[in-house]
Amino acid sequence: MQKILVTSALPYANGPLHVGHLAGAYLPADIFVRYHHRRGDDVVYICGSDEHGVPITLTADAEGVEPQAVVDRFHARLKGAFEGLNFAMDYYGRTTSPTHVETAQEFFRVLDAGGYIEPRTEEQFYCPSCERYMPDRYVEGVCPHCGSDKARGDQCEDCGRWIDPQTLIEPRCKICGGEPELRPTKHWFFKLSRIAPRLEEWIDEQHRRHGWKDNVLNYCRGWFREGLKDRPITRDLSWGVPAPVDAAGKVLYVWFEAVLGYITNTKDWAAGLGEPERWRDFWLDDDTRLIHFIGKDNIIFHAIMFPAMILAYNELVPEEQRIVPPENVPANEFLNIEGQKLSTSRNWAVWVDDVLEDFPADYLRYYLTHCLPETRDTDFSWAEFAERINSELADIYGNLANRTLVFIQRYFDGRVPEAGEADADDDEHRRIVAGLVEQIGAAIDNYRFREAAKLMMDVARSGNRYFDTQQPWKTRRDDRPACARTLYHLTQTLAALAVVSEPFVPDAAGRLAALLGVDEATFRSWSWSDAAGELIPTGSETAQPRVLFSKLDEEVVEQQRRKLGAKPGSATETQTDVEAEPLADNLVDFNQFLELDLRVARVVEAEAVPKAKKLLRLVVDLGAARKQIVAGLAEHYDPADLVGRRVIVVANLKPAKLMGVVSEGMLLAASTPDKKRLELVTVGGDLPPGCRVS
Ligand code: 2FM
Ligand code: ZN
Repeated sequence: MQKILVTSALPYANGPLHVGHLAGAYLPADIFVRYHHRRGDDVVYICGSDEHGVPITLTADAEGVEPQAVVDRFHARLKGAFEGLNFAMDYYGRTTSPTHVETAQEFFRVLDAGGYIEPRTEEQFYCPSCERYMPDRYVEGVCPHCGSDKARGDQCEDCGRWIDPQTLIEPRCKICGGEPELRPTKHWFFKLSRIAPRLEEWIDEQHRRHGWKDNVLNYCRGWFREGLKDRPITRDLSWGVPAPVDAAGKVLYVWFEAVLGYITNTKDWAAGLGEPERWRDFWLDDDTRLIHFIGKDNIIFHAIMFPAMILAYNELVPEEQRIVPPENVPANEFLNIEGQKLSTSRNWAVWVDDVLEDFPADYLRYYLTHCLPETRDTDFSWAEFAERINSELADIYGNLANRTLVFIQRYFDGRVPEAGEADADDDEHRRIVAGLVEQIGAAIDNYRFREAAKLMMDVARSGNRYFDTQQPWKTRRDDRPACARTLYHLTQTLAALAVVSEPFVPDAAGRLAALLGVDEATFRSWSWSDAAGELIPTGSETAQPRVLFSKLDEEVVEQQRRKLGAKPGSATETQTDVEAEPLADNLVDFNQFLELDLRVARVVEAEAVPKAKKLLRLVVDLGAARKQIVAGLAEHYDPADLVGRRVIVVANLKPAKLMGVVSEGMLLAASTPDKKRLELVTVGGDLPPGCRVS
């Protein structure tokens, strides 16, 4: 039995979960954990919200609320999303936990006492009008590497390179837009350079022993080529873990403490179990396999910073207090959405909460497993989503379960028939299943989850093939014992399928087991190594078959696609309270209302109006005619996303010119009083353009 501690990157409690997150650090971890449970290993899965850091204070500033309110809201939401996805997390904690302050400060103190931390005075950006120092993300400007204007003080959004804030071109304060100035301030630095040679050896060693992924290794080697510099691990902020130093207003750099959150959360988990010392079994034991699942943007912190912190710490503490460093850091690349880079600011993202409202968690889990960006960036496509669900989950997996159970109900009174003596075909089929069970396990063990999911479906494929070649519908009449044998083995195949599919589609796997007449506890007790055995004895009662996966139609796909890029009013937007405007008090009579010719119109063209930041030029089809409309939508919609939508137009408005462009009508839209959020009034169903609205 192995002792395994699995972690997923702690998501910032600053926004909801999207499928890009899921494909990076979460879904692979859950599959891995569920598999190891089945292997009988002592595996614990720890995660939690990352509740400090500048993204959170920026959100709080923008909303005019305290950071605590932001993290409370998103912590609950993230936790809910993981529950909705059926994650087997043992604990989902928070870095605002009091345990965390203790853990992080203690770690800092040990490094400090051992000479690994050193105060230095450095120039840092300070915004005179906001009267504060501006940590990395509070500064924006032009990237010194690629010239993009989407650079922040820590990283460029476009080229992804890390940035030294002083090198930013045309720096601006993110809050007030003012020009910051450089002022001296004291910060505490972690002496990464001192541990670097040992760290480099250690990474090579880990790779030799455990086979780190190429993307992770290459990334680390790149850093070593550039040379590891000492890094400041304090910040001038009021939100965070107070730095245990003799200076006011300093907190620990979020990354320094967030990685320690894995330890904190394991402590909080153990305390919750009533076994407060149990965290030591994992963290203070060299035999523990510690695996960090992350996305590629987190490699530096998990493959370099955290191990460096641990190696340094372990030099300074007695042997029995040494912390286990990670065995592996299987980072995934990025997931694109419908061919475009995922962007939360443009809402070019698929939000987990949204998907869970419309589909079973298993659908998302299954499809996403097929497009995990394991070795390179991959693409999420709604059409492929439906295709995988329909042609694999429904037509292969669901079909095998259904045809087998229907047959047993109809011709064997719902009871698993006699095994008889297996013939060559039966043996061959059982061998195939046993081989697949082994291969799926090996693929998961090697972080090849896509391959594992494909092999899992091969179990169902091979069952269907066996069904077809054995032709029980014929043997039922002319060779009853053969027919019984076939159905007996098919039942065992379904049991194997339930076991091996559980890491991928846990809900369906449980329902399949129930259809096979297996209660929950028994299902849970089946181990991976038993999966290909004879799990269900002759005579067991099976249930009336039920559909395991219902199919999706094309309209569903279209509906989901339409949500992409639609910024305002999306279900995932943060709902802040808006004070309602008073209603108008000038009454109009009905005839006045009827003077407006309101029509359904289909957008056929949409483009930006040159030099006008807010305007889009649209051409709409009104059935009897086409009209050009200029509307203030540019800050709310991508032009490409509007084409094809059916909107409501005031068709008899006198033409007017906006920025020199003629506008022959008006679109109806709803907006908040501050006009920050705006949503077009659109028509669902299939009403044709030109229909009158009254
Ligand atoms: O990228 C992120 O969302 C970070 N909050 C991940 C932190 S992982 C660990 F350090 F806690
Ligand atoms: Zn400012």
